[in-house]
Amino acid sequence: MSFVSEQLSARNLPPLSFDGCDPETRRREIVGILSEQIYGRTPDFPSEVSAALTYQYDNCFGGHARHCHYDLTVTAPSGRYTFPLYLTIPKSDRKVPLVLYISFEMDTPSGFTPDEEINGRGVALAKFCYADITADCSDGFTSGIAPMFARKPGAPDLWGKLGMWAWAASRALDFLLTLDLFDPQKIAVAGHSRLGKAALWCAAQDTRFQYVFSNNAGCAGDALTRGKSGEDIERITSVFGYWFCDRYRTYAGDAIAGMPFDQHYLLAAIAPRHVAVGASSLDSWADPVSEFLCCHAASPAWEAYHLPGLIAPADHLPEAGSAWSDGCIAFHCREGTHSICRADWKEYLDFLLK
Ligand code: GCU
Repeated sequence: MSFVSEQLSARNLPPLSFDGCDPETRRREIVGILSEQIYGRTPDFPSEVSAALTYQYDNCFGGHARHCHYDLTVTAPSGRYTFPLYLTIPKSDRKVPLVLYISFEMDTPSGFTPDEEINGRGVALAKFCYADITADCSDGFTSGIAPMFARKPGAPDLWGKLGMWAWAASRALDFLLTLDLFDPQKIAVAGHSRLGKAALWCAAQDTRFQYVFSNNAGCAGDALTRGKSGEDIERITSVFGYWFCDRYRTYAGDAIAGMPFDQHYLLAAIAPRHVAVGASSLDSWADPVSEFLCCHAASPAWEAYHLPGLIAPADHLPEAGSAWSDGCIAFHCREGTHSICRADWKEYLDFLLK
């Protein structure tokens, strides 16, 4: 048994159980398990998205890109809601790759996204601010889009705010696709930390995203929970319980042994598409080792589609500077602390443009 396999078997993970079944059927079951157990069910209702262009600048980045602001209005049977979306697109006579970034803020340029460099590599960048969707606090689901959806008190699988941010990314894509400017094989959703969790959950549910970039998403994101150091279920559900459905908190402490999934299910739900996980060597709260092992544990989902998952050495754990991107799962461990920086974006863009 390889060193990595030993590390994985010590974690006692629930198996992915892709053997002998149609992989797409199993993948959908896994999305169902994650809906029931951790993120809550995304309401299923018809919605329409319309856009108003509120600003356009055609001379961005030395004239090589166009920068637009839109107000997107989502209309559903239960009401309507408007939020801003920014798009910066390199001028090109071809369809270009697109990264939709679920953002902490809307600055351009920004401390989170090197906008000019992303565009310089021929990639469009769209972003919306998560706080414009619903506030990141325990407000009884009274802000932003949350009141548009009736909540049945006491149901253990009502969606939390990670689900709402993920849902908004899908509505943003509804609009972006109407522009007919993007290569459908190169559409990514991305986020850092809590928004990496939201990006993963978005891509798990919305197969139009061919790529997801999950940066330092850690607990309840891209790190295995069993055997994890740093943040655990007890801590995350007591401080950020409103990110999840109520059932998740029941797995705190020793109850984790009975939890019918772990975070490799979340990555597996993205197969056969592409997922890049970015860890930071000093981010012990997210736990780079558990992020790396999660990529390994998810790989059988890709193998069920006859594709490689993570291709990485099985005889040691990653060190600062490790980066592997030859399979459908890419993993890198950047030297440094919890953040998303240019070195991370270089890995993500190299993977997208392969
Ligand atoms: C907190 C939280 C993490 C989260 C992070 C972030 O540290 O405990 O789960 O990923 O915030 O979003 O920056």
